[in-house]
Amino acid sequence: MVIGKLDLGEKPVVLAPMEDVTDIGFRTLCRKMGASMVYSEFVSCDALTRYVKSTLQKLTVNDEERPVAIQIYGKDPGAMAEAAHIVEETSHPDVIDINFGCPVKKIAGKGAGAGLLQNVPLMLDIARRVVAATKTPVTAKTRLGWDMNQIIISTLAEQLQDCGIQALTIHGRTRSQMYKGDANWDFIREVKENPHITIPIIGNGDIDSPEKAQNAFETFHVDAVMVGRATFGRPWIFKEMHDALHPENPVDTTAIIPSQYEPMTPDWKLDVLKEQVRLSIERIDEYRGILHSRRHIAASPLFKCIPDFRQHRIAMLRATTKDELFRLMEETRPLLNDSK
Ligand SMILES: Cc1cc2nc3c(=O)[nH]c(=O)nc-3n(C[C@H](O)[C@H](O)[C@H](O)COP(=O)(O)O)c2cc1C
Repeated sequence: MVIGKLDLGEKPVVLAPMEDVTDIGFRTLCRKMGASMVYSEFVSCDALTRYVKSTLQKLTVNDEERPVAIQIYGKDPGAMAEAAHIVEETSHPDVIDINFGCPVKKIAGKGAGAGLLQNVPLMLDIARRVVAATKTPVTAKTRLGWDMNQIIISTLAEQLQDCGIQALTIHGRTRSQMYKGDANWDFIREVKENPHITIPIIGNGDIDSPEKAQNAFETFHVDAVMVGRATFGRPWIFKEMHDALHPENPVDTTAIIPSQYEPMTPDWKLDVLKEQVRLSIERIDEYRGILHSRRHIAASPLFKCIPDFRQHRIAMLRATTKDELFRLMEETRPLLNDSK
């Protein structure tokens, strides 16, 4: 898949933008694990144009994680164009992505994110203005439509392409569905089969195994697959997918994960999670680095096999120092067995 001049190779699998999840440490680890590109969490254009310090911090990227996309959201075309310019100057990202898909009330209810599915002329104006404001390739991420009575993705994809959007990610749900039900990939395939569509289409929704990733390419013919929730506490999912899709060229993690254990064994996975904590602490700070790791520790399938684990999980989620957290993580080592 090629976005502008950025060549991501055959069958790329990318890390989805996720608020409070895809910080710099997690993105870096996922890239090392085989993700072809990683996305920042969405960044508010209003906060960017007011130079809010905590928002500007979200623009920090490091070269190890490239190619990286920074995602922005907002509903004012002028502010979005200005925000894109700030992002370009600050992060020099490989891609600027526009969020037209966030369903939550505080965003979509105010007319940004998926709210723009109800105001397509404004969405297209934003797309045009952002494209004109930057030399960086601009992509977009959206949903099928507002609800099942308004599935507009087929026409919308063409319209966004006409605005200069260089790749489109489609999450196969409507805004009304939020995260419920199954993602509908038939509509994604319909876009791919439209002969007028020449830009890459990235399919998204419910991909949580190498088999599903493979199927997305083979059955739905997408140019790339984007993975979100299945990465929580499981960054090695990118190695699983990459190795299944490219068996001739498996990801070599020996130089990147300090571990005496065989890749993909439970002991190695524990070392990967520790490396994730270490990276988060190094890139942010000890307290916030641990805070950022908690969601992953809570969700990791690695610990699901341990009986009566609740109290120990709570203790891990309460740990406030690296030493305490690592000690608690090490205590799980003899109890781990072969899970995901
Ligand atoms: C915690 C969380 C935060 C998210 N934040 C964003 C975001 O900032 N920008 C965005 O475009 N989508 C966001 N999403 C949506 C995901 O990128 C993705 O489209 C969705 O989770 C479906 O993919 P999945 O089934 O692989 O998880 C978020 C999803 C979750 C679960």
